[in-house]
Amino acid sequence: MIKRLVMATNNANKLREARKILAPLGIEVISQREAGADCEPEENGATFAENAMIKAKAVYETVRLPVIADDSGLCVDALGGRPGVHSARYAPKGKECEKLLGEMNGVPDDKRGAAFRCVIAYVDGRNEFTVSGSVQGRIGFEMRGENGFGYDPIFVCGDRTMAEMTADEKNKLSHRGSALKALYKQLEKGE
Ligand code: IMP
Repeated sequence: MIKRLVMATNNANKLREARKILAPLGIEVISQREAGADCEPEENGATFAENAMIKAKAVYETVRLPVIADDSGLCVDALGGRPGVHSARYAPKGKECEKLLGEMNGVPDDKRGAAFRCVIAYVDGRNEFTVSGSVQGRIGFEMRGENGFGYDPIFVCGDRTMAEMTADEKNKLSHRGSALKALYKQLEKGE
């Protein structure tokens, strides 16, 4: 079983979540920077899977070690699935919740469904595959909570936003948590 993975990301939040989920399973996650890769490839794919593969392959070319990459985003029903693959570029960092709440102004409670989606690509030079995870929820009417990142303060699951959950609570039900568990299962199979 693989003991160490390089994560193709400069996003400290994704890295922190992946470490917390994979460490208890015996897998150490190191950042692309720690592995000596300083790249930020253009994410010009049409899907989460394409973008995840683009990032994983770009970093693999430099580090030549097993690499994972996460491409993820928020798909809002009332907005026809937007911002989707464009979630990172939807608004200036830290302004995404406000902008989305603005777009959702006047949308009633029963039409505020949304899903977080995550695809993880794995590349090691011999094998490559993707796994995915998602979590269903709804867009709240205001920002709540201090934890997490990105859209967490407006993504409601049950009666709390993801930013009101502890890291462990979020990881148990999140899109990233599910995708990383699927990754682990797949790696176990290939042992
Ligand atoms: P990318 O995968 O680098 O294209 O960026 C994904 C973007 O989706 C992030 O910058 C966040 O804005 C958003 N996103 C992805 N996962 C989460 C999450 O777990 N919580 C909140 N926002 C997320």
